[in-house]
Amino acid sequence: MPIYLDNAATSYPKPDAVADSVYHFMKHIGANAGRGAYARARDADDRVYQVRKLLCRLFNHTDPEHVIFASNVTEAINLAIRGIVKPGGHVITSSIEHNAVWRCLKMLERDYDIRISTVPCDSSGMTDVGMIEALVQPNTQLFVFTHASNVLGTIQPIRQIGRIARQHDILFLVDSAQTAGAYPIDIEEDYIDILAFTGHKSLLGPMGTGGLVVNYEGMIRPQKAGGTGRDSISPYQPDYLPDGLEAGTLNVGGIIGLGAAVSFILDETVEEIRKKERFLTHYALKQLQDLDQVIIYGPGDPDKMVGVISFNLLDTPAVEVAYILDEVYEIMVRAGLHCAPTAHRLIGTELVGTVRMSFGYFNEKEDIDIIMSALAQIISKL
Ligand SMILES: Cc1ncc(COP(=O)(O)O)c(C=O)c1O
Repeated sequence: MPIYLDNAATSYPKPDAVADSVYHFMKHIGANAGRGAYARARDADDRVYQVRKLLCRLFNHTDPEHVIFASNVTEAINLAIRGIVKPGGHVITSSIEHNAVWRCLKMLERDYDIRISTVPCDSSGMTDVGMIEALVQPNTQLFVFTHASNVLGTIQPIRQIGRIARQHDILFLVDSAQTAGAYPIDIEEDYIDILAFTGHKSLLGPMGTGGLVVNYEGMIRPQKAGGTGRDSISPYQPDYLPDGLEAGTLNVGGIIGLGAAVSFILDETVEEIRKKERFLTHYALKQLQDLDQVIIYGPGDPDKMVGVISFNLLDTPAVEVAYILDEVYEIMVRAGLHCAPTAHRLIGTELVGTVRMSFGYFNEKEDIDIIMSALAQIISKL
């Protein structure tokens, strides 16, 4: 049986209700949300609204209208950063961002004279919170931090970071791609002003879904203009949410699938999901540490990580290891830079990359036994 250990790229499998609800929408509803007064269109609209409510429950937010849908977290992050930061502004970020944040900031730096400060972190990828205060400048407009590294798994101290942002009245944007649904997030307690999420990873929903939860009263400048189904006479994009940031037809089927996934998570509870993924991480780390010739990156402590482990077999190229695991053992892992070059700069793997195994709620201990035995065989032949 093939074994899927690439949940950090996208989760698989999904709860059955996810595909079932997308199919049901496409087969039996199919109308556009917010674009008609007939019953089916109102039904589609209501179903989308229910998903906004579910996401509010998951992240402890009170206003479903402040949940904005986008096609993934990359689009959502671009929308937030480009809609908040002004030319000449300054942004503080971590040293281990995914390119969704990093490239967006670097392009603004090149094209709009944005200044970027990166907060140092230790070799396990843990941000040094004590260094942040000194980086704040009069023109700092945004803090943007990933909640957990997709290379090292390291969970960042977002509550402490958020508190500093709040003390300075600076907006705090969190990239929850690797944590939403798999680790508790409380938008209020964590001082998050804008939470960016992607639907298809630990939220267990379909690809093509993601968005923002906006937890402050100011308006993010829209990056798209177009139809919203309401106030069509106005030549400008509405200045209220969610319409202001949702031009064009939504991925209604995908959003409904995401709703089924979030319902599943709420039923199982994030705490149980975290417990299982923590157990798998602990179990895998222990076994990996017992193998010869393995270099493990990251904290090496399941309490400080999500279910993501990067490693190398001494100097064997990561892509070769991943290729053998797939071809010979039918085990799917990812190899390379995982779209996060700065994290690799930190651990010195910028040129070689790492092998990354990442667990999801549906993985079992036996999956780890199988990959460990495969790795032991590969190592014995090196
Ligand atoms: C931390 C982090 N941010 C952003 C992304 C981008 O996610 P998406 O491709 O869903 O936009 C990823 C995906 O790997 C990620 O791990």
